[in-house]
Amino acid sequence: MFILSKKDWELPESAVTPEKLYRTHNRRDFLKTLGTGVAAAALLPRGLRAATGGFPAKENPAYPLSALKPTAYEFITSYNNFYEFGMEKSDPKEYANKGWKTEPWTIEVKGLVRNPAKFDVNDLITKAGGLEQRVYRHRCVEAWSMVVPWDGFPLAKLVALADPKPEAKYLQFKSFVDRKAAIGQRQGNLDYPYVEGLRLDEATNELAFMATGIYGKPIPNQNGAPLRLVTPWKYGFKGIKSIVQIEFTSRMPENTWAVMNGQEYGFYANVNPHVDHPRWSQASERVIGAGVFGGRQPTLMFNGYEKQVGALYKGLDLVRNY
Ligand code: MTE
Repeated sequence: MFILSKKDWELPESAVTPEKLYRTHNRRDFLKTLGTGVAAAALLPRGLRAATGGFPAKENPAYPLSALKPTAYEFITSYNNFYEFGMEKSDPKEYANKGWKTEPWTIEVKGLVRNPAKFDVNDLITKAGGLEQRVYRHRCVEAWSMVVPWDGFPLAKLVALADPKPEAKYLQFKSFVDRKAAIGQRQGNLDYPYVEGLRLDEATNELAFMATGIYGKPIPNQNGAPLRLVTPWKYGFKGIKSIVQIEFTSRMPENTWAVMNGQEYGFYANVNPHVDHPRWSQASERVIGAGVFGGRQPTLMFNGYEKQVGALYKGLDLVRNY
């Protein structure tokens, strides 16, 4: 995967919203501060109003803001990997906000399910029972990390709506193709659409999450609007952005980075400090936003989520199944 030597993640201090704002305000106050609260949402034109549907979301007490030190909003939304919009970390924020439309948005659920369907994303959120907030660690295979307060719903809810047939063992996720809007797709820097996959039992694990927001606001385009996958025990490349299709299959599906470079990136991509990337160590990680001197910490097995997901991989050789 592309690695920058330049320290472009170190934004100037002035560009970063003081963390105090996030810590001392509850979510409702925070939304008011930003002028995107419920009352403000009611005044928005219909299209925009739909995109804010479900906010503010209620915190899931199992994954609270107080348990981890969340990364500042500005870092989460300006240091991104989204190759459809370029290969530099600063590219997605710039190029994903130049006329690319993420509302309205349709997601197709198909394959080995009893209820194949096409959903408008806002209807899907309602059908999945609305939004909740969860604060998760986010660890990229490039050995950097953040802590992100996501808003969204459990992927298990979508799986239940689809009602998989007994032969369904995997899910394949597909991202959008829009060569006109996406400069990286025009340049052909990867094979598109970007695809990812999960085993069905991974998809129904309590941690697997469909994110539609960050810090109580609709997810910005550069982070994968309007809907992206979040699997916090896996490297970030599993977290496919801007999903348009989910297909239930009986065979292990392809995933983009394993297709591009299978020697370095696999299907499982579980965070593992004991299995190094061929070109660098995975034992520790650079903490984005922690400053030049504050910024490295040991990487945890399954990114700290062994209790929730360890049983999924009992008996699996994690060195071979990287
Ligand atoms: N999804 C799509 N469609 N295209 C991408 O290039 N990059 C992946 C993942 N999802 C990517 C994607 C990678 S490598 C990472 S680390 C995460 O998104 C980054 O998510 P973030 O920018 O929200 O931190």
